[in-house]
Amino acid sequence: MERPLTKNIIANQEPYDLAAYQAVGGYQAVLQTIGRIDPTKVLEIVVDSGLGGCGGGGFPTGRKWQAMPSREERPGTHYFIVNADEMEPGTFKDRLLLEGDPHQLIEGIILSAYAVQADHSYIFIRGEYHRAITLIEHAVSEAEAAGLLGLNILGSGYNLVIHVHGGAGRYICGEETALLNSLEGRRAVPRSKPPLPMTSGLFGAPTVVNNVETVCNIPHIIANGADWYRNLGQNGAVGTKIFGVSGRVKKPGAYELPMGTPMQDMIENYAGGMQHGYKLRAVLPGGASTGFMLAEDLDIPMSFAAFAAKGNRLGTGTAIILDDQTCPIGLIANLQHFFAQESCGWCAPCRDGLPWVERTLKAIEIGEGKMDDLDLLTDISDTMAPGRTFCALAPGAMASLMTGLSYFRDEFERHIRDGKCPWT
Ligand SMILES: Cc1cc2nc3c(=O)[nH]c(=O)nc-3n(C[C@H](O)[C@H](O)[C@H](O)COP(=O)(O)O)c2cc1C
Ligand code: SF4
Repeated sequence: MERPLTKNIIANQEPYDLAAYQAVGGYQAVLQTIGRIDPTKVLEIVVDSGLGGCGGGGFPTGRKWQAMPSREERPGTHYFIVNADEMEPGTFKDRLLLEGDPHQLIEGIILSAYAVQADHSYIFIRGEYHRAITLIEHAVSEAEAAGLLGLNILGSGYNLVIHVHGGAGRYICGEETALLNSLEGRRAVPRSKPPLPMTSGLFGAPTVVNNVETVCNIPHIIANGADWYRNLGQNGAVGTKIFGVSGRVKKPGAYELPMGTPMQDMIENYAGGMQHGYKLRAVLPGGASTGFMLAEDLDIPMSFAAFAAKGNRLGTGTAIILDDQTCPIGLIANLQHFFAQESCGWCAPCRDGLPWVERTLKAIEIGEGKMDDLDLLTDISDTMAPGRTFCALAPGAMASLMTGLSYFRDEFERHIRDGKCPWT
């Protein structure tokens, strides 16, 4: 099985420096592309590959890039931004790529920025990822010294500067327009859309924002072609993806697998199945902003389309397992604590609703809830339905609550009726 994204990542070993990365074919795609292939052709290959954004939405990357005006249409600076904020609970795939193979990301940025003709790139890295920041800064300086970055790259006349920016540690900075505000030194709240960043992004200039994993795919797609990439997938999906599992499985971790691999296969055959004495009860398939799926539905292929068809989201593809000895209400309350804390406060349903949801759930968890609370939780979550808040943080927060209320209603009622948590 081909694993282009992780093939250079070796456990407990320092990542490849520039020389080692080049020795295994690194930067070949850059050498063969920059100044040799027209940027529009590079963009076309990415469109044909069908690559979907790995930041959680799966939006087609090539189509996003096509929405960026050309330099003729909009002279001046154009930006290519890498979203490495990665604060979604349960999600740790970008960290693996940042720390495991930093030059792969730099090569991906050079090719992506060239395709959209951006001359400045920012890598916005979660502030707590100290090691990633150090490694990426080092890789940038190595690439600069080798003439792979900077002015007139490889004599092509193409210029690109990469800036590494450590975030200050807010989940909302991962929302692409809040990220732009943060980079501009403003309060990190989402911007109203339209205009989209592609037409009016950082400092009002044309800007593309892509996730780390999305960008890391680009060197492989350019080197091997769109058809090669499409054929890596299974069950109608394209490419590979870094999936992950946390919870009481035998081998929690991140696994690069064909997109479209059934979730059951990942849990049983890669994560080793459940630990002795625990049964799988449900799964949050792609981080804390996705809805629960029950054990009997895990034959679903892990692709954005298959999850959308079921009314759920693949999200970041990093699954959180709920076992039969963990209180589902405690788990949901814990997630709501995170979301309430991370609400940016820009719109009322989220700012006021999430702390209320958190308090109510905590009361139910310790046996101090009322039956009426269940309908009230449903009502308040309606105020945070998609389209009713300024950004997707609040609807994402409601996904685990609403699916939890529907799948574990008996557990909620038992806590209220018995006045205690059966798991304590
Ligand atoms: C609250 C919130 C947090 C987000 N956090 C991240 C993040 O940490 N990393 C990321 O790539 N995308 C995150 N996103 C999605 C981004 O807004 C954006 O869609 C993504 O970076 C686009 O990249 P892609 O097209 O490569 O997927 C977040 C969205 C929301 C609403
Ligand atoms: S939904 Fe929440 S995080 Fe998003 S803008 Fe409104 S208050 Fe901020």
